[in-house]
Amino acid sequence: MLLSKKINDIKNNFEFDYKLLKENKINKSDIENKYLSRKGLINSLYSLLPTLSNTDKPEFGKKLNILKNSITNKIVSFIEKENSSDIDDVIDLTLPGKKFTKGSIHPITIIINDIKSIFSKIGFSSIYGPEVDTDYYNFEALNIPEYHPARDMQDTFYINDNVLLRTHTSSSQIHHMKNNKPPIRIISPGKVYRNEDISVRSYCLFHQIEGLFVDQGVSFADLKGTLEYFAKEFFGNDVRTRFRPSYFPFTEPSAEMDVYWGLKTDSDYKITKGTGWLEILGCGMVNPKVFDCVGYNSKNISGYAFGLGIERIAMLKYGIDDIRLLYNGDIDFLRQFK
Ligand code: DAH
Repeated sequence: MLLSKKINDIKNNFEFDYKLLKENKINKSDIENKYLSRKGLINSLYSLLPTLSNTDKPEFGKKLNILKNSITNKIVSFIEKENSSDIDDVIDLTLPGKKFTKGSIHPITIIINDIKSIFSKIGFSSIYGPEVDTDYYNFEALNIPEYHPARDMQDTFYINDNVLLRTHTSSSQIHHMKNNKPPIRIISPGKVYRNEDISVRSYCLFHQIEGLFVDQGVSFADLKGTLEYFAKEFFGNDVRTRFRPSYFPFTEPSAEMDVYWGLKTDSDYKITKGTGWLEILGCGMVNPKVFDCVGYNSKNISGYAFGLGIERIAMLKYGIDDIRLLYNGDIDFLRQFK
């Protein structure tokens, strides 16, 4: 009778411990040790078997076996459930998978890549200049001395008296010519910065592509031919272009190229101010003063340069009417362009 009571006590104790195990208050090795190990509670009862009479032995042995099996089964099934729950309980395998959204190329990058490939076909390679630069490279060497009125056209972010965020990619011309000898045939895409009020049409950051060709005997006719080739490749063979005289301190003579955009819709009237023509770039023959700054002898060589505004072209090509859309990172908007 005393042994039966001991069996019952162990059973009750185990029920209590098993509850704690399920509540994570004790761990499975503790409960295994306590009941099933060599020196555990079950074995301590088995060791009493020899002390029993021959009539009590079988009955007590049977009860003890049942208890041992039931405790072992409970612990084993607890461990099995715990292992399988890692996957089944945490992940519902019937749910649809997570969709990976694919990015897309930014419209500005698409245009830059297109223009790079158009110019690479006629031998222009791409080079990159610094975005943080000195007054000298951005202005001085491009024949825009201090107090020159042309500085007013490019409201500048100065970092200190001498260092600034470049206002145009023309500064890349100077870097490249100082480090290379003619012939030179490069384009230089990149970001430029101006302290402009942000609006539908202007932003404090935008992109340009600079072009520069320097060799012996380069003429204005070469410049026109190259830019007409570019316009045809980019806008299509029936594009109409025109050159207007203009002024830039670093080119002489200077011009601007317009493309005929048409006057079909109200917005065409608005964009082209009722003329149907739209300016897309500035250009000209490199001013000899610029060659002097980079140590070229302007008696032997000549060159042309041009500068294209990318946002303008992107807005035209894709019909985007607010420049800020290009910068606010709205993936649904940006994904539309190819
Ligand atoms: N740097 C000029 C600007 O930002 C654009 C430009 C005009 C570049 C004429 C040139 C050029 O290379 O020849 O407004």
